[in-house]
Amino acid sequence: MQVCFRAQIYNIIYLKKTDFRNINEINFYTPLRNKTIIFKNYLHSWYLINHRDLPWRNTKNPYKIWLSEVILQQTRVDQGMDYYNKFTSKYPSILALAKASEDEVLKDWEGLGYYSRARNLLFTAKHIAKNLKGEFPRHYSEIIKLKGIGPYAAAAISSFAFEEEKAVVDGNVYRTLSRVFGISTPIDTTAGKKEFQALADDLIKNQKPSVHNQAMMEFGALQCTPKSPDCQSCPLPSICFAYKHDLIGDLPVKSKKVKQSKRHFSYLIISDGKKLLLNKRPEKGIWANLFEFPLIESSSELEQEKVQQTELWNSLVIASKGTVKFKSDSYRHILSHQIITADFYEVKVDKMPTLSTTKNLIINKSELNQFALPKLLLNYLSDRDDLLSLLNDN
Ligand code: ADE
Repeated sequence: MQVCFRAQIYNIIYLKKTDFRNINEINFYTPLRNKTIIFKNYLHSWYLINHRDLPWRNTKNPYKIWLSEVILQQTRVDQGMDYYNKFTSKYPSILALAKASEDEVLKDWEGLGYYSRARNLLFTAKHIAKNLKGEFPRHYSEIIKLKGIGPYAAAAISSFAFEEEKAVVDGNVYRTLSRVFGISTPIDTTAGKKEFQALADDLIKNQKPSVHNQAMMEFGALQCTPKSPDCQSCPLPSICFAYKHDLIGDLPVKSKKVKQSKRHFSYLIISDGKKLLLNKRPEKGIWANLFEFPLIESSSELEQEKVQQTELWNSLVIASKGTVKFKSDSYRHILSHQIITADFYEVKVDKMPTLSTTKNLIINKSELNQFALPKLLLNYLSDRDDLLSLLNDN
């Protein structure tokens, strides 16, 4: 405590004595304690000048902050903004969200990917409405118990909404700290996570938690970027280990490469010109509970000839006297752990087939936009905006 207090005094003296012009006097051999102080001074000054005005930074409402953090996991700010605005206007409170159905929320989430985020969001909203009197918990230790909220999001919500001194460590923070402080412990190991968290916990002490955490994330997002960071415009080169040692491209270190499995999909778009066949995906796995066209999945890419020998083709196309009107080129869709190759067959049938399970649906073509579809299918449909008319041709 005393050390921190002294550091704070030093901090102020240092700020008075130092400005951007004489930062060259500080060098890599500056002791760590001094380096953390210098780092924070420059980080906070940089943030004041450079931060983006984002709507979730102008609120202390924990529901809205939670929503923004869930949307922004795996999503860029510019893409997430529209979803944040849509959700906060359609569901202005936890109670409003808790009343929605899963299909409705998945539809609103359509295009964002990682749909388990949306399902957990709804699950937790219902839990808060039912069991916590609609009140979002106020402490990190309670927030982290909620489904879908891990250490990063719990730290973000508790610091932004309640000024709790909890340091966020996301990809931006790993990158900045590993480069500035020269930490090469892999960030995807337990030892690495502990080391970075300890440094981040130290840095946030005696700072305004919300501003400090936002500054850490914003610096990584805008200045200390993954590829080709603009070190010439950075206030930190004189204390940045990676800059001094030409290691910007080497830090942070990851121990494992993510293994991406390969999957091959052949979709059958079956229509009699008016109606379409849709299936609901299973509750587990990718795109859980989303809708898609009847699917043949195979261990390698299937030629059309092989597709036409499958049971599904037999029951949906042969039995209904269908003809292939169009076959697409292959689409590649990349998820964090999977690479999907997909072909689409547009098939016109005389009469729609009878349904075999409750997971199948026959819908009017005009209803298609009411169902939440995976991004891969949306991409296909947007390329094929003549799809519906093509299936109308005789
Ligand atoms: N990415 C994740 N959380 C964020 C936030 N609160 N502001 C900007 N980018 C973010």
